[in-house]
Amino acid sequence: MYLFKNVSGLRDFLEPFRTKSRKIGFVPTMGALHEGHLSLIRQSLESTQCTVCSIFVNPTQFNQAEDLEKYPRNPAKDLQMLYEVGCHAVFMPPVGEVYPRGIDTSVAIDFGQLAEGLEGRFRPGHFQGVAQVVNRLLSIVEPQQLFMGQKDYQQYLIVRHMVRALELPVEVVMSPTVREANGLAMSSRNARLSAAQRNQAAIIYKSLQDACQWVKQGLSPEQVREKALQQLGIPGFRPDYFEVVDGLTMQPLDNFDGLGMAVACTAVWAGEVRLIDNTILQP
Ligand code: PAF
Repeated sequence: MYLFKNVSGLRDFLEPFRTKSRKIGFVPTMGALHEGHLSLIRQSLESTQCTVCSIFVNPTQFNQAEDLEKYPRNPAKDLQMLYEVGCHAVFMPPVGEVYPRGIDTSVAIDFGQLAEGLEGRFRPGHFQGVAQVVNRLLSIVEPQQLFMGQKDYQQYLIVRHMVRALELPVEVVMSPTVREANGLAMSSRNARLSAAQRNQAAIIYKSLQDACQWVKQGLSPEQVREKALQQLGIPGFRPDYFEVVDGLTMQPLDNFDGLGMAVACTAVWAGEVRLIDNTILQP
């Protein structure tokens, strides 16, 4: 496995793959890796000839300085995990390499309603920051396939929209959420939970599973939302939202007409740690 800290080193390494038309797969991360990231790496290893993983805690997607400061970091363990899974190259750049001084790397795309609700509402500017860094990383790595997890479903839609809007030659592949034994979605932020919070956080997945049952029983999106919010209101936990949305537009649904895709999305504070999760209610 090769480790690169600057753009030119990584591009030199990737050049022979490009000239021989070998597929490059890319998994962008912010480190503090877990089994969810490794499943993306494995998927890339299966379908491409060279897998690149980036580890970069992107400052432009944090709307709170404290969240950025407290974001878990464990580069030595990350590298060990990537080596063991068989990743080919790791890109671990300093901020100045991703955002060179004096160069405008912002992405001029209006994501409209895709970015208005849910995470967009509670984390203003977050998706512009995600789009900025993913676009910049894609321009450096130039992969044929980009692998992203379903846990960040809205982020996946934003990136897919950006790829289409900018006509980038990359396929965006979404992989299923990997979960702990109790159903909690794997996330780098889980490292900040106490053992008790980790156990109790199983309620998040339970609310999503119950939502699937409530839909089958004929409840409306609003009834599902209310029941789930009630369920999530356990001591020490505070939901920001539980929404039932159209899986293509991220707009709240009024009914389940059986035609479109319906997704239940939630964000919940477990003490000082904010966790998100979702499930597809109607494919
Ligand atoms: O999902 C994440 O870890 C980040 O938002 C991403 C896609 C690596 C961009 O910084």
